[in-house]
Amino acid sequence: MVQVSERELPEVVHELPALRAAVQAARQAGRRVGCVPTMGALHAGHVSLVEAARRDCEFVVVSIFVNPTQFGPHEDFTKYPRELASDCRKLAGHGADLVYAPAADAMYGPGHALYVEVGGVTEPLEGECRPGHFRGVATVVLKLFNRVQPDRAYFGQKDFQQALLIRRLVADFDLPIEVIVCPIVREPDGLAMSSRNAYLDGEARQKALVLSRSLQLAADLVAAGERRPEAVLARMRALYDGLAQVEIDYLALADRETLAPVATIDARTVALVAVRVHGTRLIDNLVLEPGARIV
Ligand code: PAJ
Repeated sequence: MVQVSERELPEVVHELPALRAAVQAARQAGRRVGCVPTMGALHAGHVSLVEAARRDCEFVVVSIFVNPTQFGPHEDFTKYPRELASDCRKLAGHGADLVYAPAADAMYGPGHALYVEVGGVTEPLEGECRPGHFRGVATVVLKLFNRVQPDRAYFGQKDFQQALLIRRLVADFDLPIEVIVCPIVREPDGLAMSSRNAYLDGEARQKALVLSRSLQLAADLVAAGERRPEAVLARMRALYDGLAQVEIDYLALADRETLAPVATIDARTVALVAVRVHGTRLIDNLVLEPGARIV
């Protein structure tokens, strides 16, 4: 096991006044504040966001909070991995100054009654499959922004629709925050990193490669000149045929800004997939720009 020196570990605060004091001190020292919201169970995808934040900001706050309001009643809220100590070790040496980890009951006080509904981009795809999910995301991210008050906030393209939602939230509420969206970090074989990959056993882990393979197939077909969405979607779908316990929630070719289905594929088109593999719900996407590749 790699030993991590105490000095490299980020400071952890659980309480809002301690967070505010630390951010205020950093700001008074003229440091720009970057924020990386997460639900923990950190992996290299999260770490890439922290490193991006470190490049542009002198003070980096990582929040870790498994947000109950973004999980549906039959989703994995209770089994979602919670591993704060090991998360802090994973952050060591990557430039996080502070981990803000509010207690489970410290985000929504008694009588909490305000929820944020973002329209438009949240409606199709994930919005249809996970009713209420984006309302929970928008609400907790607005609360985290108000608590941390960052200059910049970092999100992953892995959650493509979520990133569009955050941009809308910031634009429509006039928040003085710059949103940075970072590329998807993948395993060497192409699987997009996700905290939920921990649920996949050997066979499911192997089958999970069908997501990234179907996106790569879309990119290859487009590179070969195919522009018809139905033709590409049919070829993608065929890769899933016959895979036991692999259920497609959606395969979509959509406009990268509005998420409306496209009539013709061009460089503004994003391919998005959501699939259940042995009961674990996985998502992935690829913008079909010239030269788009998974790995
Ligand atoms: P979580 O799933 O923990 O993800 C935190 C951030 O890491 C998100 O911006 C997500 O897009 C990014 N991320 C996840 N996997 C990634 C990968 N393979 N490559 C690059 N970035 C990746 O997304 C959430 O938490 C929550 O919805 C949150 C925004 C924290 C609100 O509760």
